Amino acid sequence: MTLPYASGYHAPVMVREVMDLLTPERGGLYLDGTLGGGGHAEALLERGPEARLIGTDRDPDALREAGERLARFGERFTPVRSNFADAVAAAGIGDGSLDGVLLDLGISSHQIDVDERGFTFRPGAPLDMRMAQATAAEPSAADLLNEMDEAELANIFFRYGEEKRSRKLARIVLEMREREPFATSDHLLDAIRRTLGPRAEAADKARIFQALRIAVNGEIQALERALESFRKALAPGGVFAVLAYHSLEDRLVKNAFRDWSLDCVCPPGFVQCQCRGTPLGTTITRKPMSATEQETLANPRARSARLRGWRAA
Ligand SMILES: C[S@@+](CC[C@H](N)C(=O)[O-])C[C@H]1O[C@@H](n2cnc3c(N)ncnc32)[C@H](O)[C@@H]1O
Repeated sequence: MTLPYASGYHAPVMVREVMDLLTPERGGLYLDGTLGGGGHAEALLERGPEARLIGTDRDPDALREAGERLARFGERFTPVRSNFADAVAAAGIGDGSLDGVLLDLGISSHQIDVDERGFTFRPGAPLDMRMAQATAAEPSAADLLNEMDEAELANIFFRYGEEKRSRKLARIVLEMREREPFATSDHLLDAIRRTLGPRAEAADKARIFQALRIAVNGEIQALERALESFRKALAPGGVFAVLAYHSLEDRLVKNAFRDWSLDCVCPPGFVQCQCRGTPLGTTITRKPMSATEQETLANPRARSARLRGWRAA
């Protein structure tokens, strides 16, 4: 299978399914909060002259890449460097003005491919993981491993990495950093091996590195803040589509879409409804959509993708 809109930078996931969710087909004003290599954005802009898109990303590499790719759309494309949690304010988007919002969470293949960015568990890579390529003021993965206390580290490995031996791993990190500060992937790989023993597989390493990345970038907190701001920015009939690759993120999205679709959100025991008393919209994916087997074979990253959609009333 050839992956539509794939580039050397990133292969976008479930493009056809995302396009089917995002209406209107002729195009409108869209916001892509996770521009990456601009694959989904290009598919949206190709809908026709009525399609306009504001694209945000924290990562300057993404804005550079997508900026070049989407330059042919002229003023129909507006790039904004921002955390998507602040995108509505950063791009000056008014309430009720967007026809569609897309979040394709996580990181791009490019970010993993470049060792210096420090997302990879290939040996010898620096432990950085900051999506925004921030200055030293923003703590890197190495800073967290060298400075957090044992309970905080255990919490990260447990909550974001579902690591059963989270406390042991945190204890080993603290023991190791007494002798030498954590600086490269080798240090964390060594801590993982000492915790999980020879059982440690690539999937374990990926899970634990991902947990640290989520903490470094405040990814759960950013999503929590972003959801409500994007809901308010949607026009009546506008669609919110989210691709999540982590169960915590998918649960946040599922719960938000469910709550917004309820007609009453009063606490139990209220005799008379005192809340908005009407749904804010409808969940349009009863169950999360997954990539086809064909796509998963061609792009293993698509395997964990969960796509959900919600339409504003
Ligand atoms: C999976 S990639 C998106 C790929 C994109 N859909 C495409 O077609 O190429 C995720 C992108 O979101 C960005 N990102 C993740 N969290 C972000 C946040 N809170 N704010 C802004 N950008 C974020 C990452 O830097 C990365 O470039």
